[in-house]
Amino acid sequence: MLTGKTIIVTGAASGIGAATARLVQAWGGRVIAVDRHQPADPVDAFFAADLSDRASIDALVAALPAGAHGLANIAGLPPTRPAAEVLRVNFVGLKHLTTRLVPNLADGAAIVNLASLAGLDWAEALPAVRASQDLAFEDVEAFCRDHGIAGARSYFFSKEALIAWTLRHRWTWRDRGIRMNAVSPGPVDTPILKDFVATLGARAEQDMAVMDRAGRPEDIAPVVGFLLSDASAWIRGANIPADGGLYAHVLDRRHRL
Ligand SMILES: NC(=O)c1ccc[n+]([C@@H]2O[C@H](COP(=O)([O-])OP(=O)(O)OC[C@H]3O[C@@H](n4cnc5c(N)ncnc54)[C@H](O)[C@@H]3O)[C@@H](O)[C@H]2O)c1
Repeated sequence: MLTGKTIIVTGAASGIGAATARLVQAWGGRVIAVDRHQPADPVDAFFAADLSDRASIDALVAALPAGAHGLANIAGLPPTRPAAEVLRVNFVGLKHLTTRLVPNLADGAAIVNLASLAGLDWAEALPAVRASQDLAFEDVEAFCRDHGIAGARSYFFSKEALIAWTLRHRWTWRDRGIRMNAVSPGPVDTPILKDFVATLGARAEQDMAVMDRAGRPEDIAPVVGFLLSDASAWIRGANIPADGGLYAHVLDRRHRL
């Protein structure tokens, strides 16, 4: 499904990013891995970068080869980390990398953003979500203060803002055939799952109790791979849940179907 394509995968050293890198190679593509840490699995190229830092992202964009056919924005921080750092990596840095990289991507390239079930209620936070869309690195602390974004809320908000940003840019690069979509996993068994359970407490336990099992990185990677492939050419600005049915369950309960 990805033969001949070169895909940039951020967060490729762990969890869902590492599984995506393996899948891209299994589907015939080349992987350019980006992370703070060197991936343990073999990749075609690796670039170390701190995706919370504008200068590091700018240096990365200057170093990356031009002409990639896909960008999988998978690097992310859990809700146990400081709010501003979470917002920087999960949203502001992702936006910066993507918008800087687009001129260097091949025409027809696909961008996939790893959002989350945690971002499901983005429409309930519209003033902050609207205000965040052009948020710059230097304004993150003030933004968190002004919008009451602290603690675990930062993780939820980063994913709400990302889902909204993805759908807003459904056609931004349409003249070059470049499209962008999001994938929203439920709880997935990676090193950060314990952070979610620790931070979200009863809510995480309730979610886990109704599920037959937690997700695995290998449940999410094929959805990312499909969105990177030409098979999904008419899917644009979408947010696809991959969560063992949890989103459907939440909606069913909420609307008393
Ligand atoms: N695990 C889950 O339950 C779950 C659920 C929904 C969404 N997600 C999302 O999936 C994505 C991947 O998460 P995961 O579960 O595989 O986590 P993980 O911790 O296994 O992997 C995250 C990767 O991102 C990298 N990273 C973090 N900060 C970075 C930075 N500043 N610069 C460069 N690299 C950085 C880490 O080094 C790590 O390799 C995240 O965006 C996360 O929010 C995860």
